Amino acid sequence: MLKTHTCGELRLQHAGLRVELAGWVYRRRDQGGIIFLDVRDRWGITQVVIDESASPEAHDAAGQFRNEYVIHIKGTVRARPEGTANSELATGEVEVVADEVELLNASKTPPFYINQETKIDETVRMKYRYLDLRRPRMQDNLVLRHKVIKFIRDFLDVRGFIEVETPILFKTTPEGARDFLVPSRMNPGTFYALPQSPQQLKQLLMVAGYERYFQVARCFRDEDLRGDRQLEFTQLDIEMSFVRREDVMALIEEMMIAVTEQVAGMTPMHKPFPRITYQDALEKYGSDKPDMRYDLAAVDVTDIAGKSAFPVFVSNAGEGKPIKVLRAPGMAGSLSGTQLRKTAEELETLARSAGAKGLAWMALGEKEEDEVKGPIGKFFTVEQKVALFERTGAKPGDILLFISDQREVVYNVIDTLRRHLANQLGYTDPNKIAFAWVIDFPMFYWNEEEQRWDPSQHMFTATLPEDLPLLDTDPGKARGSQYDLACNGYEVAGGSIRIHDRAIQEKMFPLIGQTMERAREQFGHMLEAFEYGVPPHGGIASGLDRLVMILAGEPNIREVIAFPKTQQGADIMAGAPSEAEPKQLDELSIKVVPPKSEAKS
Ligand code: AMO
Ligand code: AMP
Repeated sequence: MLKTHTCGELRLQHAGLRVELAGWVYRRRDQGGIIFLDVRDRWGITQVVIDESASPEAHDAAGQFRNEYVIHIKGTVRARPEGTANSELATGEVEVVADEVELLNASKTPPFYINQETKIDETVRMKYRYLDLRRPRMQDNLVLRHKVIKFIRDFLDVRGFIEVETPILFKTTPEGARDFLVPSRMNPGTFYALPQSPQQLKQLLMVAGYERYFQVARCFRDEDLRGDRQLEFTQLDIEMSFVRREDVMALIEEMMIAVTEQVAGMTPMHKPFPRITYQDALEKYGSDKPDMRYDLAAVDVTDIAGKSAFPVFVSNAGEGKPIKVLRAPGMAGSLSGTQLRKTAEELETLARSAGAKGLAWMALGEKEEDEVKGPIGKFFTVEQKVALFERTGAKPGDILLFISDQREVVYNVIDTLRRHLANQLGYTDPNKIAFAWVIDFPMFYWNEEEQRWDPSQHMFTATLPEDLPLLDTDPGKARGSQYDLACNGYEVAGGSIRIHDRAIQEKMFPLIGQTMERAREQFGHMLEAFEYGVPPHGGIASGLDRLVMILAGEPNIREVIAFPKTQQGADIMAGAPSEAEPKQLDELSIKVVPPKSEAKS
């Protein structure tokens, strides 16, 4: 080894020890006769001192070093002189006085600072990802990711789970996104699909009698990207036999608490995790993955506002459209009339971007006797206002935001405003973590375009036992035995108890608009397996990237993936995706036709 210690290791107790270090020049200060080098490796940073009078040769060599040069030094550890200790560095009480220094490899000037947390253009970061990953913050993230996965593997191992790998080259595994297809050279004209999740395979492992399976599984979904989505991502995938919904939820809850506390050193705000029905989550928070770090729940005021004299509310209430209020605590505060109107306008613009037709508001003055401000106060009687304030818990200085439209629009606007208000009010501390279960999802959503039901999770989810008859009579009302885990406004896990009966599984296909013929073609293996002694089973999958992102306090999953894709699905470092060689295409019997838009022009 070129090092006796890592750059994160040396402490006062090592004073006097002769050591060798190797790593990158993180920072360099040349003070004439003395050169200071902060040397970095994966474990930390150590200050190295080279004194011209004591070691002229080493001093000469170090004079040529620049940031990010790879170097090797030999020297002696000593306590830093009085008053020069650096409490921000783990090694900050010591330095190494070097008498031999060696250049192992020079470096061009990097396109951005490795040693400063400055805003770096995303494209440049991605192009030079290997430099980006040198930054201590990124190294912390990847180390955290490793620790989370290691912890989970051990946690599950102790509880009798085994990890089984399932194929990447497989057949369509619908999870609601587009498949990535891989052409087969040996069977021209045919394709594998990359798994959107190991869903069918883990169920087949239950049929095979494995009872407790898990896998750190790569999943592939060709969908539009967002901050919390990648084309390929990693799931912690779990399946268990002979379980009820409670059993799976209890296991995951215990695991999530343990990983949060023992690996990330945070404590979930709510233990046990609250459970909210899907319907309640929408009514209160407008989202099926509510951020529970704060309350900001919407309140239904249809009965009160529908009887006011404000024409929009009267007619909306008449048409069965709800009227809801979000209370922004203290947001009117001491704002002047103009400032208040400006704030309200900004909120209205945001509400409109989420589909609202307007955003009526009332602001309560700072003193009890102050007038209620806002465009619709005049349409409410004193009694109606009192009822409103009571219902919403309004206090002096609050703004009440009124949202009224079709239900789906109302939910969307509540979600958008709620997240915005929370940011403005400083409720979104990344050092806080709040989990909540969302349960009792509908089995299906109605797909107006295709005039059929879409499974709200996937077609293998069982109904709640008591809702099974609804599959025949009123599928829209049937609730699935599904459970999602929300954390800080993200969906971090989702699963369900599965159908394990062929007859019931077959019922699903016509409902979701598939012919039995097509279903047998695609899922014949599942249906057949369901005839050979299937244990009741269920499971869950957690988006590991999202979980680590939250535990790391990062705003985007790209920060916790070593080599992620950009928003456009590209790897701009390697230049993927890229065109294939004609010879490769020939071997695959594939002919590329230009995209339609190009062909036309
Ligand atoms: P689901 O589709 O809900 O369920 O996925 C499980 C979890 O995976 C994460 N996730 C993603 N993370 C990053 N990028 C993406 N594109 C992405 N898509 C999903 C989310 C989500 O909660 N087979 C079922 C699970 C089961 O029923 O057991 C499934 O895949 O955190
Ligand atoms: P108007 O009478 O059109 O000037 O609207 C008065 C206030 O009601 C404005 O603040 C509008 O933004 C708001 N408003 C209009 N339509 C709606 C609606 N559907 N829901 C909530 N507020 C609305």
